[in-house]
Amino acid sequence: MTTEAETPRLTMSNIVKRFPGTVASDGAELSVRRGEVHCLLGENGAGKSTLMKILAGSYQPDEGEILLDGQRVVLNSPQAGLAAGIAVIYQELDLVPDLSVAQNLLLGHAPATGPIVRKQKRLELARAAITRVGGDFPVTATVRDLPIAAQQLTAIAKALTSDARVIVMDEPSATLGENDLLKVFEVIRSLVAEGRSIIYISHRMDEVMEIGDRATVLRDGRTVGVYDVARTGPEQLVAAMIGQERELVQSTERPRPEGEVLLEVERVRIPGVIDIAGIDVRAGEIVGLAGLGGAGRTTLLKSLFGDIKAARTVRLDGASLRVASPAAAVRAGLALVPESRKEQGLMLGLSVARNAAVTALGRPPWLLPRRIGKARTAPVLDDLGVRFASPDQPVGKLSGGNQQKVVLAKWITRGGVRVLLLDEPTRGLDVGAKADLYRQVRQLADDGVAVLLASSELNELTANADTIWVLHEGRNVAHFDPRTTPETTIAHTVITGVTP
Ligand SMILES: Nc1ncnc2c1ncn2[C@@H]1O[C@H](COP(=O)(O)OP(=O)(O)OP(=O)(O)O)[C@@H](O)[C@H]1O
Ligand SMILES: [Mg+2]
Repeated sequence: MTTEAETPRLTMSNIVKRFPGTVASDGAELSVRRGEVHCLLGENGAGKSTLMKILAGSYQPDEGEILLDGQRVVLNSPQAGLAAGIAVIYQELDLVPDLSVAQNLLLGHAPATGPIVRKQKRLELARAAITRVGGDFPVTATVRDLPIAAQQLTAIAKALTSDARVIVMDEPSATLGENDLLKVFEVIRSLVAEGRSIIYISHRMDEVMEIGDRATVLRDGRTVGVYDVARTGPEQLVAAMIGQERELVQSTERPRPEGEVLLEVERVRIPGVIDIAGIDVRAGEIVGLAGLGGAGRTTLLKSLFGDIKAARTVRLDGASLRVASPAAAVRAGLALVPESRKEQGLMLGLSVARNAAVTALGRPPWLLPRRIGKARTAPVLDDLGVRFASPDQPVGKLSGGNQQKVVLAKWITRGGVRVLLLDEPTRGLDVGAKADLYRQVRQLADDGVAVLLASSELNELTANADTIWVLHEGRNVAHFDPRTTPETTIAHTVITGVTP
């Protein structure tokens, strides 16, 4: 073996990064080989994204050293990071929403003759890049108009247009559905076959097991272990992430809710898209919505919330429910936690406390006395285990998973919610945080709230829902009692649309 083969592609040693009130990186270590998929794991707020922003040159470390192919590098700007061959696909995609896919892909390095951009050439290059990641949407489309999964694929394609040695993917599965994720895995495999190195961040152990060669686990900004994935079980990785001292809350058996039917979805129809009929949700009941990407779960929830136009016959408490807009839905007692973080209505520059309190008092957050905001939100934020340096910290400075928890906190503090619509609420949450979230949701149900819960994680639905409806190609095809139905039966229906 030559020494060159043994020199790691990347070594980050003793990386320290302090923020006011937090040490986000506290001597973290990371070593990545060439041609390897290296997973970076840890709870929400463990310091994964921070470490990657340091690698990208977006943040400057207070201490520490970075070696690329054995050479010490100083990455003091994102340009320096790119020039060194590092491409990062961030958790919050950094595309320009008003530009086309092609413009975004080749931003700053469009093919040109002198000052004139060669538009035809740009389209060609862009098409090739999008095809490579398995996308089938037009490169002339404006990014803003694309579904979130297509935006994610665009961000990945963009990273590939620069000739990167190290490609970081920060939780792609938080926004991608199953099918798109499989495409991304194929891209990853072809990239490592070319000798490139991938750093892959995810909270889902099944993905780590499938795609990872090795994994580094971070806890509280420190590296607690490096594992060979093939020789390690998911339990061991989870134990390393959460540490010995914390126990995961197991979901407890709930008595079958016997409340009155609160939400009656007699029919919700958008021609050619969805036609859903006959879903009832009792007060205190958690009804799960299972299905593949595109089955219609998000569309149903958004239609119920008045966010998408649809022909609706829906009753709340026996009375016809007319919601022409999300604002009307909120007045009627509905709450929606949407799947995309970008749509979750967080005001990133405002404090955690204000964001959590904003819907509570029905007035603009800047008119909300601080003291009240904090008093109302503190217990909820605490119950959900939101990690922050201070409630005055801007919510945009929280880790991705912790931002997600603040969205739920908003609705819990508000009170008065009668119907809670949750769309993939645990994407981006670590295992402990998922347990915290479901404990809160069950608590809300126990207080009489009707819950509609859409999730791609069937095991989360079977563990938490009282009834599971399967949606297939825009229709609700069957419902199951998860207490008595084996998960494989439900999974079969999710895939085929028929009951075995
Ligand atoms: N710009 C910033 N200013 C202040 N604090 C920050 C900033 N960026 C990150 N932090 C803090 O540093 C810690 C680590 O955050 P980081 O985003 O790296 O976590 P993460 O491991 O990526 O979590 P997640 O799984 O939730 O995405 C958190 O406590 C976070 O609030
Ligand atoms: Mg993160």
